[in-house]
Parts: sequence; structure tokens; C-alpha cells
Amino acid sequence: MNKKIRVCDGGSCLYDGAVKILRTIEEQTGLAPGQSNNEYDFDRCDCTGHCGMGPNVVVDDEVVIHEAEEETVMEKINKKEGAPLIQGVDVDIDAIMKDLV
Ligand code: FES
Repeated sequence: MNKKIRVCDGGSCLYDGAVKILRTIEEQTGLAPGQSNNEYDFDRCDCTGHCGMGPNVVVDDEVVIHEAEEETVMEKINKKEGAPLIQGVDVDIDAIMKDLV
């Protein structure tokens, strides 16, 4: 199974250098966003909710590499080295608002 790579192209990550990260991954995988091969499935993604730590790269929907750097991003992708990606957190808005009001 190939490794799924998603580079956030939200405004904050673009400001923090996501384009350089996209180019680095393109050069090192030979793939453009939206393409895949036996090793990688590469594309852009929407905001991951980690805007203060961009550019962010999500690997296999499991980890997110914060503050990705051109020199190390492929190594981190291949080792799946990053923070756990937390999705679908269940927040009880009514309970939070009750405490605030
Ligand atoms: S813009 Fe990339 S995490 Fe929000």
C-alpha cells in the first residue's frame, strides 16, 4: 500500500512555506499533486486545524508533520514521524456554553 501524503494548502500554511514543501515532495517523488504511484499518493488538503504550526503535512491520515522543512520532510514522511492526527473530536458545545454564560 502506498503512503498517503497531504500538504495543507490553507492560507496560513501557504504563508509559512507550503509551496516549497509541495515542490520538494514533487521533486523527490516525481509526482504532482493529485498523482500517485506504487510508493506514494500525493495531494494537497484543506486546513488541518494546526495553522500556528505550518506548513503541515499529513501522512496516512495518522500523523501530521508540523513546521515541515524542505531538508527533512521526505525522511519524516517515510518514517511517518510526526504528531498524532486527531480527527473527529467530540465537543459538547452546549456544556461549554453553559459554563461560559
Ligand atoms: S492553514 Fe494549514 S493547518 Fe490551517
